[in-house]
Amino acid sequence: MVRVTTNEMREKFLAFFRSKGHTIIPSASLIPENDPTVLFTTAGMHPLVPYLLGETHPGGKRLADVQKCIRTGDIDEVGDATHLTFFEMLGNWSLGDYFKKEAIEWSYEFLTSPEWLNLDKNRLAVSVFAGDSDAPFDDEAFAIWRRLGIPEPRIAKLPKKNNWWGPAGETGPCGPDTEIFYWTGDPNQVPTGFNDDHPLWVEIWNNVFMQYFKDKEGKFTPLKQKNVDTGMGLERVTAILNNTEVYSIDVFQPIIALIEKLSGKKYGESDEVTRAMRIIADHIRAATFIIGDPRGIVPSNVGQGYVLRRLIRRAVRYGKQLGIADYFAARVAEQVVAQFKTAYPELVANQGKITSELANEEKKFSVALEKGLREFSKLKQIDGKVAFDLYQSYGFPIELTVELAREHGFSVDMKMFEEEFKKHQELSRTASAGTFKGGLADNSEVVVKYHTATHLLHEALREVLGTHVEQKGSNITAERMRFDFSHPAKLTSDEVKRVEEKVNEVIKRDLPAHFEMLTVEEAKARGAIGLFEDKYAKLGNKVKVYFIGDYSKEICGGPHVGHTGAIGTFKIQKEEAVSAGVRRIRAVIS
Ligand code: SER
Repeated sequence: MVRVTTNEMREKFLAFFRSKGHTIIPSASLIPENDPTVLFTTAGMHPLVPYLLGETHPGGKRLADVQKCIRTGDIDEVGDATHLTFFEMLGNWSLGDYFKKEAIEWSYEFLTSPEWLNLDKNRLAVSVFAGDSDAPFDDEAFAIWRRLGIPEPRIAKLPKKNNWWGPAGETGPCGPDTEIFYWTGDPNQVPTGFNDDHPLWVEIWNNVFMQYFKDKEGKFTPLKQKNVDTGMGLERVTAILNNTEVYSIDVFQPIIALIEKLSGKKYGESDEVTRAMRIIADHIRAATFIIGDPRGIVPSNVGQGYVLRRLIRRAVRYGKQLGIADYFAARVAEQVVAQFKTAYPELVANQGKITSELANEEKKFSVALEKGLREFSKLKQIDGKVAFDLYQSYGFPIELTVELAREHGFSVDMKMFEEEFKKHQELSRTASAGTFKGGLADNSEVVVKYHTATHLLHEALREVLGTHVEQKGSNITAERMRFDFSHPAKLTSDEVKRVEEKVNEVIKRDLPAHFEMLTVEEAKARGAIGLFEDKYAKLGNKVKVYFIGDYSKEICGGPHVGHTGAIGTFKIQKEEAVSAGVRRIRAVIS
């Protein structure tokens, strides 16, 4: 077993897969583009869905990456030794290239070869898909593991619940997976058999074999393009290699040390202190990456902004619990930036924004927190109305109220809270159930149509309003699209009409769409618009540029319709302000 830092671990992983012919691609944004089904990128496969469904990737058919991920499904579990809200996922990908044999053999080689991680083979166990009426037992994966020398009692055959990945949406690519576990207990007492529920058997790597498509009827049909999607949590594997827990690995140490200094308490002095320090370190780290992302966002009461607000406010509350008297969030964030500045230079570029947003949010919440906590301690129970009042008057995220209530031994009437909430404003997407968990875009035909329509709209706006118009964001569901752009004034009804007509004209011309890989200079020379810094459309010194006939040229990862005629009829439903100088159009196609 080799001891490594997280930086070394990232490099090792990428070097290994480079040696196996993989192209290294940069991490995509934490904020998914054109994907309404999730708030954050939750797994490495997420931004790659179009390519798993057959879209050509500029990097080829073998890719490897380190993807920034946020998982908020178990946000309330953060505080134990393993859960992290933000984490980095190491992944290797085959887009219709190699399959089970190479994927498994390479995982095994990377983990056990003395040249790479040199993990003890005797401490490994694996699980494979047991088979059911949808898909058979994965005897191929089983046989490969046996051939590599994993004893039969260390290969668990498990059902879909354990050994199947995707689709998180209703339909999409999915398939059986094989998971690799490492015995973190005494090396002289490795059990002969394997029980995946045992806390000392820790999952370190997941290899997903995407060989099926699940359709609307729930039927699984084999995919034409068989893919491999693997995911290994960077922090977890680094912790294992250093024989420690995630919060004690190199990147967390200085962050925890700073929290110790600010609070005058010691990590490990009591369970309560340890938990509070982990929560602060985790949440401020996640908040730093969310604000510092190239498509970064700021605290608010909806969507990603609300998750961010929850993270910061929960950290502030635990800071108070630790007795930190001064404002601390921005200082912890500075330490996070210092830890990650080499791997994620965007944090350095956005450091000013990160610290000022954190400081503002902390200030806003601190006074209310003290008052709210005083109110809280007077209560014997919390009905939905009180919970809403805490939210409305003191800015207590409902989840924080629920957590406080639990600590005081009572529960919150959520139904009544939601009724109150609805009465006062449209229920935010995130406050309603489900959206925290995340999932995959299915890149359905209609979503792709909407995506192409956003390019046409972008160009039409530039023609009608002027070339100062720049895309500021977009959000697409199967029901509608939203498109945000820079423009100083409200559009007149005539302008709205002209934009709509232009888009429909281009649709009628049935222009073909295609992409080319160009250098940034070539793309600029040919008049392409869009984000030149869009990491996802970028590969090496080339960017992917989508051309829609002679009408639109835009840097973009895809996918798009083959011909604009497929889009249908485009209709603008609403035009409104988002913030100073930014307007939003909501449109539908039919
Ligand atoms: N998508 C799989 C996971 O997240 C493997 O990358 O575990």
